[in-house]
Amino acid sequence: MTMTFPRTFIWGSATAAAQVEGAGHEGGKEDSIWDAFARVPGAIANGDNLEVAVDHYHRYAEDVAIMKRIGLDSYRFSTSWARVVPGDREPNREGLDFYSRLVDELLGAGILPWLTLYHWDLPQALEEKGGWANRDTAQRFADYAETVYGTLGDRVKNWTTFNEPFCSSLLGYASGVHAPGRQNPRDAVAAIHHQHLAHGLAVNRLRELGAEQIGITLNLSNAIPLDENDPVDVEAARRFDVLQNRVFLEPIVTGAYAEDTLSDLEQFGLREVIQPGDLDIIGTKIDFLGVNHYHDDQVSGHPDDSGTDGHSGATERDIQSCWIGSEYITFPTRNLPRTAMNWEVNPSGLHKLLVRLGREYPNMPPLFVTENGSAYEDVVSEDGAVHDTEREKYIVDHVQAVSDAIADGADVRGYFVWSLLDNFEWSWGYDKRFGIVRVDYDTQERRVKDSGLAYSRIIASAKSGG
Ligand code: NOJ
Repeated sequence: MTMTFPRTFIWGSATAAAQVEGAGHEGGKEDSIWDAFARVPGAIANGDNLEVAVDHYHRYAEDVAIMKRIGLDSYRFSTSWARVVPGDREPNREGLDFYSRLVDELLGAGILPWLTLYHWDLPQALEEKGGWANRDTAQRFADYAETVYGTLGDRVKNWTTFNEPFCSSLLGYASGVHAPGRQNPRDAVAAIHHQHLAHGLAVNRLRELGAEQIGITLNLSNAIPLDENDPVDVEAARRFDVLQNRVFLEPIVTGAYAEDTLSDLEQFGLREVIQPGDLDIIGTKIDFLGVNHYHDDQVSGHPDDSGTDGHSGATERDIQSCWIGSEYITFPTRNLPRTAMNWEVNPSGLHKLLVRLGREYPNMPPLFVTENGSAYEDVVSEDGAVHDTEREKYIVDHVQAVSDAIADGADVRGYFVWSLLDNFEWSWGYDKRFGIVRVDYDTQERRVKDSGLAYSRIIASAKSGG
């Protein structure tokens, strides 16, 4: 197999503030919804919290040095709204200074900062005013974007508004497995629309301020009917596709919700939350689409095709809680290898998705794979190394899939491995390790895993044209 990438292709790795920073209540930071959620008994595996995480707040310079050793072109990270504007009050200089130091360190190492403004950590003070179910939160987000731009806009070129709004709306407000832990499908649908609006308002605001590269990151998957000749399975896959992909993608890239989306979600108030002019704002042109992809979803509409939990980090319950009283949606097991998350390993799904996006949506901007990776139960061997051969293979095979997609016409301009470091995997706590760098949670010692070394070789080889 040969891999070919454009010279300008960006090789990166990603993290998110809540998952790595720690310093949960230091430097002026106050509660985000995840800090509050972590205090709810049973919400997070093992009662873990985000207070220390992997201490990136204090160890960022060491982490940037590791990125440089691996040979990354870019580091995708997020800013914490609750650090930048704690408690819904004035901007916090100390919080902004942290990101300023991080950006300077990256630029000093020749690494492009790839900044995400919202990776799920809403200030708890805003949740107490209704969170994303409250339309006003969208305006607050645009103000927050302006605040961050005011400090970093001279040095950061790539701005992402949201990471995976699927999770911060449906998992947060419908199934309740993510913060803020609400279980109300109407709030979830309002959250979807208000996050779209927040995105559009922020794109316009950042553009006025001079930003040139602005985008959003969505988690997309191919929804595959179990039996393509069974109308029940085909309809189940369509409904799943709406809620997993299209309700997020289409308003952004086409400036409209599709008719079937509007009618599927009418019972949960979608039409009611849309105000005149919203879609013009939401459909404002973006410069790139970030695609997070881990696996596809095989979908059945029959109750007896027993489901698995392996799709999108969600469970069947998460999706069905948005379709109360509606038909069954199940996710039958396929005969594919699985990761420690129980997610299928199927690189051809990434290839298919990247090729489809450009073909199905004529106005699709350039694509970046902003997350792809895998959790495994790593062990430190006697030689002190982490021989994570499964993760290494996962990365090699998915990078190959990206190369194949480019050869087949997809306009993909970069790839970011999730994650640089082992970290706080949301409701799984520290149980699931995604890093290409191992973190010893007792000592905070970092150690590049074999997968990190392999990724480093991939990057070097791609850059030398081989
Ligand atoms: C998606 C999210 O953006 C990230 O925060 C999470 O850790 C990974 N997927 C793995 O689940």
